[in-house]
Formats: sequence, C-alpha cells, structure tokens
Amino acid sequence: MNKTKPTFDVKKNPNPVTGEQRELLLANPGWGRVFTDHMVTMRYSEDRGWQDWRIEPRKALDLDPATSVLHYALEIFEGMKAYRLPDGGATLFRPHANARRFRNSAERLAMADLPEDLFVESVRALVCIDREWIPSAQGAALYLRPFMIGTEVALGTKPSCDYIFCVIASPVASYFKGDGPAVTLWVSENFTRAAPGGTGAAKCGGNYAASLAAQAEGLREGCEQVVFLDAVERRWVEELGGMNVFFVFEDGSLQTPPLGGTILPGITRESLITLGRHMGLTVREERYSIDQWQEDARSGRLTEAFACGTAAVVTPIGKVKGRTHGFTVGDGKAGPVTQRLKAALTDIQFGRADDKHGWLDRLF
Ligand code: PLP
Ligand code: COI
Repeated sequence: MNKTKPTFDVKKNPNPVTGEQRELLLANPGWGRVFTDHMVTMRYSEDRGWQDWRIEPRKALDLDPATSVLHYALEIFEGMKAYRLPDGGATLFRPHANARRFRNSAERLAMADLPEDLFVESVRALVCIDREWIPSAQGAALYLRPFMIGTEVALGTKPSCDYIFCVIASPVASYFKGDGPAVTLWVSENFTRAAPGGTGAAKCGGNYAASLAAQAEGLREGCEQVVFLDAVERRWVEELGGMNVFFVFEDGSLQTPPLGGTILPGITRESLITLGRHMGLTVREERYSIDQWQEDARSGRLTEAFACGTAAVVTPIGKVKGRTHGFTVGDGKAGPVTQRLKAALTDIQFGRADDKHGWLDRLF
C-alpha cells in the first residue's frame, strides 16, 4: 500500500451556504441533489503522476469538448458515506475497501492508478472541512462520491494520459422515495447489464448508462429498480441496477449470487455475509435462477428478499414483475431476517453497536 499522505492546498469557500440555509437543506435533502460547499481535486499526468492536490469551493469542471471522458466514457466512481455518531463525531465505513475497488475499476478501464491512501485521505479531508453537512436525522448520512475522469484532449481511442480525481459530497436521506413497505422490481428480459469479460465488476459510469433503458422500462411498469439476469443464459439473477441482492429461505439460510466478474463486489454485500455468518446463519454465494425465485416465492420456500448497497442500505423486495414473471415475496413487507441484518449493519455504521470487525474509520 502506498503511504503517501497528500498535503492539500486548501481554499475555503468564501460564500458557503449559511447555517440557516444548510439546516433547511438537511431537513429534507432527498437523494443526490444537495451538495456541500467544497470538493477535492487532484490531477494526474503521465510524466508528473498525481499532483495539484486541492480542497476548493465546489465548482463546475472546465473541460475541452474533445476531452476523452466526453467521448469514450472514461469514468469510474465510488459511493460511500460518512455517518454521524451518537457523541457528535463522525466515521467512515470501510473506506479502504472502496479505495481498493476504485483501483480495480481503474485497472479494468486502463485508467491511472490512485494509491489507496491518497483516495482515503481525500475523502477524510472533504468530510472534515464539510463536517457541518453530515446529517443527524435518523438514517441520513453524508454520501461521498469520489470519481476519476480521463481528461486528455484527443479523439483517438486509447487510454488517456491525463486524469482528474475529484470527491464531492451530498447529504442524503433514504434512496427510495416514499415510505412503501418494500420495493417492486422489474425483471429485465430485453437488456442485460454485463457480460463475461465486460466491465460488470468495475464501478464505471458506462455500466449505469447502459442500464438506464431497462430502468426506464421498469419505471414505466411502476417498478423502482431493475433486476438483471446473466447475459449468457438469461436466467441467473445477477444484481439490481445499483445494488446487490440477497434471498432468505424458510430454513433461515441466506443466499446471494456469487461474484464472477459480471456483478459489482458490493461492500455492503460482503459486510452482510460476515454479519449473517456471525449471527449463526448459513450464507451461500450461489447462483439462483429467476424461475426458481418465482417458484420458491409461490411455494413459500423463499420467505424474504432484499437489496443492499451504500445508497440502498438494506431494502426489502416486495414484488417482482416482468413480461413472463410476477410474484410477491413473503407478505410483501420487510421480513424478520432482513430487519435483523439491517439493524446489525446500521447499528455499527452509526456507532450504536460495537465495531467488532474494525470497519469504522473515525474522523473526529
Ligand atoms: N451493485 C451495483 C451495480 C451498485 O451500483 C452498487 C452500489 O454501489 C452495489 C451493487 C452495492 O455496492 P456497495 O455495497 O459497495 O455500495
Ligand atoms: C451506491 O450505492 O453508492 C451507488 O453507487 C448506487 C447508486 C448508483 C444508486
């Protein structure tokens, strides 16, 4: 691991949002629409490496119209949160896991390697300068979006020589609108998300762009998220547009699709596998077909299902719809195992339970 500690050139926002305005925004932040006063930026060039580390007022990026990200989607990102602790302090959750995944995403897209410590220090620095923006309402947090774009001005299809790494922050409440008991999923039969050898395991903007036609179809059908099937046989459940998926069976066991290069290795997923096993539950990482899911939901063998991710936290799945599928999971509401796992995870993240696994990175 690279031990470089960046020294940021700090330029404080001369016109930050007033305390009063901020309180109003924090009272109802929605998801991903309110932003803090600052951002972190770093630049990379092939000959000089990472340099020009800055914390500065949040502002628009100035890009030449021939910049590579605008043409070939040379973009990767991460999603993580800073949580307000009961004593008024704040913590990150497993930031090095995000930093590692970011490096893997960069490698897959032939982008510049950003050492883990630079990534983590950048995120810590932004949260510290914008600490007043960490919400304290139940379940709310400061969402952090580190991302990197290729900035070489060239239209040739080749890896970029120049990059910008940037971190922005957004106070967020629940990802799903409304207070429905559970989300409804649309089974995407027309579109797949990722194929073997593709970029499914990387967190790159292109994956999300490619998922939006399916998401639009799902929204038209009254569904909140899309469940993607594998691209080869079109039968194995992979993941949702922006979250991993778990199944709970009547014997109390849990199952989640295995990582195999086509789904995102979620940090929430991995944490829940660990927490489930610590609770004494059997957790399998095995393939599960959409037809089996329907059959098990109808027979009662499957009792619960939930989505998980940084944005979604743990969200129960109530109904599944598609051109050739339609079923309700359990009673269509959050089941007991889902609720127990959600409580176990969020109690650690918000500092209400012992951090037995050493997952927290306390900031202040
Ligand atoms: N799968 C996809 C496609 C995602 O976008 C996300 C969200 O980041 C996840 C899974 C869950 O990953 P994590 O738990 O690391 O947030
Ligand atoms: C996250 O949970 O951090 C994500 O990136 C998912 C988001 C794209 C909805």
